[in-house]
Amino acid sequence: MTRQAVRWAMLVVASWMLGVGSTAAQVATQGNQGIGDPYFPLMGNGGYDVEHYTIEMTVDVAKNLVDATATIEARATQDLAAFALDFTGPSISRVDVDGKAAKQDRSGGELTVTPTSPLGRGADFTVLVAYAGPPGRGEGPFGGGWTAEPDEIFVFGEPAGPETWYPANAHPADKATYTLRITVPKPYEVASIGTLQRTTDNGDSRTFVWETRDPVAGYLIPLHIAELDEATAEGPAGLPIRNYFARAIPATDRASFDRLPEMIDYFDSVFGPYPFEAYGATVVDQALGAALETQTLSTHGRDATAEFIVAHELVHQWFGNSVGLERWQDIWLNEGFATYGEWLWTEHSRGVSDRDEQIRRWYALLAARDRLHDRAALEEMNARELVDLVLDAFPGLISEEDALKALGVRAKAELEDRPAAEALEQLDLPPPALQPVTIGDPGPDGLFRGAVYGRGGLTLHALRLRLGDDLFFQTLRTYTERYRHSTVTTEDFIAVAEQTSGQDLDAFFDAWLYQTALPPIPEVGLEVER
Ligand code: TRP
Ligand code: ZN
Repeated sequence: MTRQAVRWAMLVVASWMLGVGSTAAQVATQGNQGIGDPYFPLMGNGGYDVEHYTIEMTVDVAKNLVDATATIEARATQDLAAFALDFTGPSISRVDVDGKAAKQDRSGGELTVTPTSPLGRGADFTVLVAYAGPPGRGEGPFGGGWTAEPDEIFVFGEPAGPETWYPANAHPADKATYTLRITVPKPYEVASIGTLQRTTDNGDSRTFVWETRDPVAGYLIPLHIAELDEATAEGPAGLPIRNYFARAIPATDRASFDRLPEMIDYFDSVFGPYPFEAYGATVVDQALGAALETQTLSTHGRDATAEFIVAHELVHQWFGNSVGLERWQDIWLNEGFATYGEWLWTEHSRGVSDRDEQIRRWYALLAARDRLHDRAALEEMNARELVDLVLDAFPGLISEEDALKALGVRAKAELEDRPAAEALEQLDLPPPALQPVTIGDPGPDGLFRGAVYGRGGLTLHALRLRLGDDLFFQTLRTYTERYRHSTVTTEDFIAVAEQTSGQDLDAFFDAWLYQTALPPIPEVGLEVER
């Protein structure tokens, strides 16, 4: 049974004990304040599934104020006396359920709605929430949702974010379709998800109506409000490509996006058909040091427009977006696959030896980190060897000069007789650097560690070398087809690989995903010295 199935079974037993189901209305309970993700107990909500969100919003860009109505069409998955939505946005003037005023209660990031009468299991219902004021402020290493800058507003958050600007079942396990009607003052424009259905001119302002055909997780809704330039192109089978650039983005930072038709063509051939109605990117005029794979329209910081990043975000459309996460623990299914996609693009556009070089560099870096948490290896090392290891493990992050200074010496040669373990304490590496990482369960703070990306990619390369190209790419295509527009756990991917290859891969995936030691890739002579 999957975890989801276990939860369902427990729910069935619990409701039977309470007598729920037979005497529905009298004993209907409140839906859980979380969807059941062990990493984020309050993320998402239980007891219902959202089908469609309609967000009608007027944005005062200069003051960062919104005036909005969110209409949420959902279906109850249990008898519900009350249910929660995630929301950290401004004050609410009205909540209706099926056209009748409902009681609302806000605490923390949870909005609890109590309809005048309970909702029966299986009932379709519509919630309307009207609110106005400043959106919530997200928190997170790269931002956490609604982000307002002078002359520019955008949304940028993972794993959280949607709750900052609309009430949501904000967990990727509950995908829905969306209609966004966003009104902004001239001269701003709005780039968002799916297809721009129409633009209406209201005199001083314009309303942009964007709509998606396919379901999407809340953190993957793109929204970029700014003075925008648009560049269009066409992908395979007439796929519309539309790129947006904040006015100030120079031509040099727009160039990588010209390769999108070629990239989509290539990834179609290895992953199966591109899953959505359109693609493109929007580039914000902020140095975010990151990009986010928002569905049908990836959001890039102005300093994150390199070709490999463009490829990475595109690959997420198959892995992470169409095939989405049932729980955050399995983040390697997103980041490992997108990283492997970068290497595939290198292979396709620059050749196998460039790809192999990229793979060797990642392996060397992870092998150095692996040795840094290997107590026995450290016992045998001197401080000079340790410094070399640290430089390999954190290229560009720690310089030799800094390391020598921290150890109080002028030259590496002075470190020959000093034990490594003692020197390691003086080096003062950031604590996460020394924590072992199991990428199949990296913990809520470890979701976006380098290893999830690099070791995730290496896991796929090792799988490819083990299965051979035919079975490996067959596995990827079966996986994207079977779980298109759906959600998965790591078990689902392993099952497809085992079924496609006829091999028992449990030990292989256990070593790569759930053990800390970096496995060898014997086919290409990569291994950690022990
Ligand atoms: N998923 C992003 C990527 O493609 C990285 C990321 C994680 C991110 N959290 C974020 C980007 C928050 C923007 C905001 O690698
Ligand atoms: Zn990514």
